[in-house]
Amino acid sequence: MAKEETFEDLRQLTLDHTWVPARPWNVLNGPDGFNIFTEGKGCRITDIHGKTYLDIFSALGNVCSLGYGRKEIADAAYEQMMKLHFMPTHELNIPQIKLSKKLADLTPGSLSMVFYASSGTEAIESAIKIARKYQVLSGKPKKYKMIVGGHRYHGSTYGAMSVGSRKPHFSWEDYEPLLPGVISVPSPYCHRCDLGLKYPDCNIQCAREIERVIEQEGPDTVASFLDVTIATGYSTLPPPEYWPMVRAICDKYNVLLILDEIMMSLGRTGKWFGFEHWDGFVPDIIVLAKSLANGAVPLGATIVTREVAQKFEGGLREMLNHSYTFLGHPVACAAALVTLEIMEKEKVIENSRAMGTYLFESLSTLRKHRTVGEIRGGLGLDCTVEFVKNQETGEKFSPEENKKFMALLKKKIRQAGFWGAAGNPLKLLPPLVINKDEIDELVEGLDKVTGEIARELAIT
Ligand SMILES: Cc1ncc(COP(=O)(O)O)c(C=O)c1O
Repeated sequence: MAKEETFEDLRQLTLDHTWVPARPWNVLNGPDGFNIFTEGKGCRITDIHGKTYLDIFSALGNVCSLGYGRKEIADAAYEQMMKLHFMPTHELNIPQIKLSKKLADLTPGSLSMVFYASSGTEAIESAIKIARKYQVLSGKPKKYKMIVGGHRYHGSTYGAMSVGSRKPHFSWEDYEPLLPGVISVPSPYCHRCDLGLKYPDCNIQCAREIERVIEQEGPDTVASFLDVTIATGYSTLPPPEYWPMVRAICDKYNVLLILDEIMMSLGRTGKWFGFEHWDGFVPDIIVLAKSLANGAVPLGATIVTREVAQKFEGGLREMLNHSYTFLGHPVACAAALVTLEIMEKEKVIENSRAMGTYLFESLSTLRKHRTVGEIRGGLGLDCTVEFVKNQETGEKFSPEENKKFMALLKKKIRQAGFWGAAGNPLKLLPPLVINKDEIDELVEGLDKVTGEIARELAIT
């Protein structure tokens, strides 16, 4: 191995020259502050020390859905690079045109017009601006406010920060003021209702709140409602009435309904799109990214209905003044086309459904541990395990205890050969190509890790 490739050398080079996001300096600089990964094959990744891990988080929630080392994707990217690796998007390229057609075919209803980006954040930014200008072009220039659901992460640019939040872990406080006119409404998750109500007696008050806010702010001031369709870490659906009610409210007030599908689309919940869990329900705008090209090449997309797109048909005045140099990149689009083809050919969504059920059912064996609280899942490969102090009483860990628990969980999960976001709750979003043996390995590993932590913390 060349001298500069030892872990210690690379570690020092990192600390000197690479600004690592979402990891405080004192953690990065501490023992086990970060790892360096060098290879990936199937659902496994290998670090620079030669240790191999089963990826239980598809790299970053919903990115490497087809696993690692996909030759077909590499070949498609290589071929496109050799043929024509770049041209500005307004001159179009063939993979871009074909991918748009493919996405239009996959998306239900009249969702059919694709605006590309290189990340989820950029695609969210596009959605915000499309909704804003749509209202201006509809003769409603004062219709600019955005209603947003819960505390969600939608990205890190100013627009994306303004419509989301991730407090307290990822607070935007230091960047204020953000965009004006953003109003939050409660989350539609019954097991932890923001309004303290019980379904179905609640009368779906969370959806009704959106109408109340529109009325309160003035219907002529609200441009859009934005939320994720299914929130990460909940692994359950909002009530069946929720999205159809929100659709009806948005229609009534001419408010565009934007769904951030970045985490829960492309098979993650056992369907192409999360919103397909509600029959006949179609939003006005959806946002995709992460697994669109299996993470092999960065790509995001904002897909709008024909009705929304038609507003922008006209001259310079109607044009969406918004662009990115790498938008519709031919290599990314070629990689995405093959990614979607593999998903169909290998019946990846069917696998997500079957293995999602198997994972969810297998996880119930962990309930023998006193620290295992609610286990949620059953919708494709998206499961969540909550750890508590006492399963019987539902008593939660104190913040201090939780910190200790999470530190041990993280360490032991890694030692046991699993890689993912090891927090409490523990989110399990493995690649969609995972098989039964790998799931058995994961559940047995979690069983062992949970038992060891309980013994170390003297919780038995
Ligand atoms: C729901 C959601 N929206 C938007 C984003 C931002 O996407 P990106 O990191 O590709 O900019 C993320 C990223 O994790 C996300 O989970």
